[in-house]
Amino acid sequence: MRKPQLSFFLAGFLAGIFLLLASATSFTLDRQPNSDYHVRREALAEKAGGVIVLFAPMESEGPNDLYGFRQEDNFYYLSGLTEPGAALLIAPDAEGKADKPAHSYTEILFLPARNLTQEKWTGPKLGPENPEAPKITGFDHVEDMAKLPEEVIKLVSSGAHPPIYTDVASHDQSSASAEPLEFLKDVNSFLIFLDVKPMIESLRTTKDAGELALIRKAVDASVAAHFAAFKAVKPEVNEREISALLQYEWGKRGCERPAYAPIVGSGYYSTVLHYSDDDKVMKSGEVVVIDAAGEYSMYASDITRTLPINGHFTARQREIYDIVLGAQQAAEAAFKSGKSNMKHEDPDSLYEVARNYINTHGKDSHGDTLGKYFIHGLGHPVGLNVHDSTDHSVPLGPGQVFTIEPGIYIPEENLGVRIEDDYYVDQDGKLIKLSAALPSKAEDVERLMAGK
Ligand code: GLY
Ligand code: MN
Ligand code: MN
Repeated sequence: MRKPQLSFFLAGFLAGIFLLLASATSFTLDRQPNSDYHVRREALAEKAGGVIVLFAPMESEGPNDLYGFRQEDNFYYLSGLTEPGAALLIAPDAEGKADKPAHSYTEILFLPARNLTQEKWTGPKLGPENPEAPKITGFDHVEDMAKLPEEVIKLVSSGAHPPIYTDVASHDQSSASAEPLEFLKDVNSFLIFLDVKPMIESLRTTKDAGELALIRKAVDASVAAHFAAFKAVKPEVNEREISALLQYEWGKRGCERPAYAPIVGSGYYSTVLHYSDDDKVMKSGEVVVIDAAGEYSMYASDITRTLPINGHFTARQREIYDIVLGAQQAAEAAFKSGKSNMKHEDPDSLYEVARNYINTHGKDSHGDTLGKYFIHGLGHPVGLNVHDSTDHSVPLGPGQVFTIEPGIYIPEENLGVRIEDDYYVDQDGKLIKLSAALPSKAEDVERLMAGK
């Protein structure tokens, strides 16, 4: 064999560098335009009226070890970046004071210096030295993480005691921002740290068009997965096989992970709300509750269907099934944009509509009404998190995405039924069922299970 030429090595080296840079600067998720994230940062700066500093978790602190690092929701919302260990600094326009210079809206993304040894394990990262970093990330400025203290001090130093808005952890939470901001206590022991999360979560309540498009992709992939499950549910099949099938089907359509632990609960376990063993053999004559959906480019979906394992509901199963579906339809029909909510004991509550429907239809085996078997809320917002935080003071209105998911769970009959769909309120206040393509009428469910 001929000796390789120097030019051959050089070409290979350059190709390697190119690939490395390309992979370090491309996004594996569907990402919204940089301008969408920029708009959110400016909105937050205006809302806070002060300096915001937020850290992404370190790679070793990712919330989901099983599927690898996942960016923290609020950091992702503001940046669209999956870089672990990054930080952002945002400050609104500020007039100058005697002891403090004026500045216009300021934003800096801080990236950790690249660690080539670590990158052998987890892949190339975008480094602060990359001259393209502002263009790639859409931040006005990108700096090395080592510059963060100096930049923060510049913005907060004054005679007064300005607050820093950051991720302040409550007793049962951890915060990626707490330890890296410790240095500020030495700079000014009177500095006040305020929690920025409620402000970001309030912005997250209303989804923009790009977010809605991603949620639609998560919903569509999950609907396709449920269609596949309709065909695969049969007596003597293990629940785990259905869980595996669902995950394969939405994964094939681009979802990076499940939006929550899939629930495939048959028989008695159809009545257990957060059952996740998914390991029983499904039996003829019982029902199975399938509450499972994928996450697409960080955005969740949340869908439940209840199927008769042998393809036909018994009369009693059908009775309960129709009451649950009726409750969902009653809530849909009662919806009023800008007025309806999910609170309990409120005149505009969709929960009360559904509960009232359940309480006025059917009986248990003791002749009692069924309301006491509806043991959870009617719905919740969906977004970057399957349970996006709920600001109950804001009624359901344009731009919001949420579930409507009534259920009846009667353990003594081994019978649980939940039907859950995802909804969006359009700009005209119309309620749009995003998961409408997945049938929920009992006869349609039976027809699809028969392969028709
Ligand atoms: N899958 C969780 C829920 O329905 O809220
Ligand atoms: Mn839900
Ligand atoms: Mn669910």
